[in-house]
Amino acid sequence: MKIPFINLRNISDPRGNLAVIEAFKDIPFEIKRVYYIYGTKGNQPRGFHAHKTLRQLAICLKGKCRVILNNGREKTEVMLDKPDMGLIIDKMVWHEMYFEDDSILLVLASDYYNEDDYIRNFNEFIECVNR
Ligand code: TYD
Repeated sequence: MKIPFINLRNISDPRGNLAVIEAFKDIPFEIKRVYYIYGTKGNQPRGFHAHKTLRQLAICLKGKCRVILNNGREKTEVMLDKPDMGLIIDKMVWHEMYFEDDSILLVLASDYYNEDDYIRNFNEFIECVNR
């Protein structure tokens, strides 16, 4: 499984760095929602679901986040630990996230929150992939 990384556009000068993400230019979808996960606990993984249609870009702004991606056929693992590295979490990709304490994960999402778009049961996810 090819890891869908995006090296974010960076504008750096002696004052520091500025990373830019524009819809359809840097990522292949419209951004309708932004959320972030913070105050994470090393022993409290998150995710454990896939989305039927939602596409997302995840960026670890602080700390570390290990992400397991599974498209139903292949599984891969990536470490997010740089604010200029984005990971596309595409639709129909089961994902699990393991954080370092006090990390911050920024997520740009292609649509509004909709619980009906979630598949939270792994067996159901595998059935949907093979349908
Ligand atoms: P969830 O997506 O399950 O988070 P994680 O995969 O990181 O554990 O969301 C956790 C809770 O927050 C769940 O009850 C749904 C709610 N939620 C919203 O209300 N709006 C949102 O945009 C998101 C992402 C979650």
